Amino acid sequence: MLGSTQHRYSSGAILLHWLLALLLAGELALGFAMPRDASGFELYQLHKSIGITILLLTFVRLGWRFTHSRPPKIEGGFTGFLASAVHVGFYVLMIGVPLTGWAIVSTSAISVPTMVFGVVPWPHLPLDAGMNHTFEEAHEILAKVGIGLFALHVVGALRHHFLMRDSLLGRMAPGGVASVALGLMVAVIALWAAVYFGIGGSAGHEHEGEEQEQDVTLPPDGSEAEGRVALDAENVAEEEPTEDLADEDAEEPADDEVVAEEEPAAEETETAGPPPSWTIQPGGTLGFNVDNGGMALNGSFSRWSGTIAMDPEAPESARIAIEIDLSSASLGDGTQNAMLKGPDFLGAGANPTATWRSTSVRRVSGNRYTADGTLNLKGVSRPQRIAFTLSGSGARRSVSGTAAIDRKAFNVGTGDAAESVAPTVNVNFAFDAAR
Ligand code: HEM
Ligand code: HEM
Repeated sequence: MLGSTQHRYSSGAILLHWLLALLLAGELALGFAMPRDASGFELYQLHKSIGITILLLTFVRLGWRFTHSRPPKIEGGFTGFLASAVHVGFYVLMIGVPLTGWAIVSTSAISVPTMVFGVVPWPHLPLDAGMNHTFEEAHEILAKVGIGLFALHVVGALRHHFLMRDSLLGRMAPGGVASVALGLMVAVIALWAAVYFGIGGSAGHEHEGEEQEQDVTLPPDGSEAEGRVALDAENVAEEEPTEDLADEDAEEPADDEVVAEEEPAAEETETAGPPPSWTIQPGGTLGFNVDNGGMALNGSFSRWSGTIAMDPEAPESARIAIEIDLSSASLGDGTQNAMLKGPDFLGAGANPTATWRSTSVRRVSGNRYTADGTLNLKGVSRPQRIAFTLSGSGARRSVSGTAAIDRKAFNVGTGDAAESVAPTVNVNFAFDAAR
């Protein structure tokens, strides 16, 4: 070893090591802290973008590793073996974690397109939607294993520095200076904590009913969303045994029938009587955002209402209808608002109201649901899926959700002004409902 000329990693390896360490720390914190509802939409997009960047950089790093020499191993025996195993484990995870994340979004019930940093369109993997839950589990477990490896790796580095007092840290430090590596270690941990507690503190991990921190512009007056009590008690599917809702491909958006879903809704209890009605409480938000030539356009509707009849334990019988006053659309700027409501976009003059009616609602897992339905917008009626989450319990629930709308199918955005607008408009909503 004394005869070895190389005392540290190449500059490229050091740069990639610390860049990836910082990115991973931020990404892990973001993954755990991002709210699981509409208020987390932008953070999800960021999580996907950073995750894909990590994946690509890991390939660069592996390429670098095999084309550049490294300093000889400093330690043999069990601890030397453990250190190497952790390094190999890191490479496996830096590929496995983002791949499973990519698989989650590729199999998700609502297909939200991935634009890396809002610019580079990223395709979905051709995977079976039934695997979604498995990928979610795998993604979480692998991320947690990553935290374990990180702990071992840092303890190992500290052991060399403070107990064995060798030059190990310097091998991975810019300029070979060990204290710089120590500083970078502190920076990595600080970044993790800042992201985790920054997001967690402001948005709440589980969206416990506090104010939403949304990027979309909120109606200045609090929205006039007001609920009406649902009346369709007799529209409810009568005696369909829930277990049998399984694998029919019934897809017709029949107006007054509950449509059977392809996937069995995990052990639901059977429906006893009509589902309870919920009144949408004032103060909810209905927003949308879409990429416009690399810039996000964020807007909202201030006037909308809805009727909801749903038993969260037996969602199959739910009936949901939402009405949106298109003339209440706003992008927060007078000129843009006029254009938005005009014939090229929402066409509020000819068709002032958009409606969405559910045809079939099912539980995806826990408090997460998917609702298929029909959207009538600008005179066009088409199937439109939304995903939502319920939180809270008893007679008052918080509802939040998203939908990805293929605007061109509804002739929204036809003139020159729409050329740079992305084809998918992401809608998000959040409101409280009381029984
Ligand atoms: C933040 C605290 C960190 C410190 C102090 C640190 C320190 C070090 C040191 C000193 C080495 C060289 C080991 C040797 O010469 O045998 C090393 C290698 C390595 N580190 Fe870290 N590291 C940190 C974070 C991370 C993270 C988060 C990752 C995850 C990607 C990581 C992945 C690796 C890998 C894969 C190697 C082996 C490089 C190779 O041989 O290709 N490190 N680290
Ligand atoms: C190295 C890169 C990545 C790391 C370390 C990471 C880490 C995490 C963590 C810790 C969570 C929270 C797990 C949980 O509590 O359920 C998470 C969730 C998630 N990640 Fe990643 N992720 C990475 C890359 C990606 C990529 C590339 C995508 C998509 C393109 C992605 C999509 C998701 C999604 C959709 C969730 C939410 C899953 C759920 O709510 O159940 N991740 N990620």
